[in-house]
Amino acid sequence: MCGTIGTVTQDAGKRAAAEAAALLAAPGMRVGLGTGSTVAFLLPVLARRSLDCVYVATSPRTELAARQLGLDVRAFDELDHLDLAIDGADQVAPDRWLVKGGGGAHTREKVVAAAAERFVVIVSPDKLVDRIEAPIALELLRFGLAATIAALGDVRVREVPPSPDGGVIADWWGEIGSPADLCGMLANQPGVVEHGLFPAELVTEVIVGHQGGATTKIF
Ligand code: A5P
Repeated sequence: MCGTIGTVTQDAGKRAAAEAAALLAAPGMRVGLGTGSTVAFLLPVLARRSLDCVYVATSPRTELAARQLGLDVRAFDELDHLDLAIDGADQVAPDRWLVKGGGGAHTREKVVAAAAERFVVIVSPDKLVDRIEAPIALELLRFGLAATIAALGDVRVREVPPSPDGGVIADWWGEIGSPADLCGMLANQPGVVEHGLFPAELVTEVIVGHQGGATTKIF
């Protein structure tokens, strides 16, 4: 889950990927900041670069951390597009589909990714999977919650506070045949605010960081 303490190896990979991605930001850019332990390595590097960028954050946690480091964070009702967004992921499949939302921030993360000209994903190698598997994070409307869950099947509500937008954070635990079919099913269900499946079209590139500090770009 997002925010858990990773192994030393994982953290070294996350740091390497974050440092490489930070170099993609350039003065004057509008940059979206993701959420999670990998993004936590990104923020200080961006701050040290002292770029004349404006930032939007995908969670209150990222917003607070970024502001504390002196980054110029704006509300995301002021900007109509972003040049770059950088975020972590829970699973990266060989066809570039992602699973996100381990930290429950997937709704805002997807809005930010979709608004960005370039969406860069930063991960340690343990995030690379052969195929996408449950759980898939959900944000559900409180209104009609029991009916929405009954329609979706195997859904477990997380014991966490609501999202910043008031949504209920849950996970879908069914068998995944085709991620695209599941994406369609979840998107078509009234009461689902957003889900954590990110289609390949949203993703510009994935930077994998390795223990020794090297990085590889896999898409
Ligand atoms: C937050 O909701 C998630 O989508 C995170 O971006 C994702 O879980 C990756 O988190 P870590 O960087 O902590 O692994």
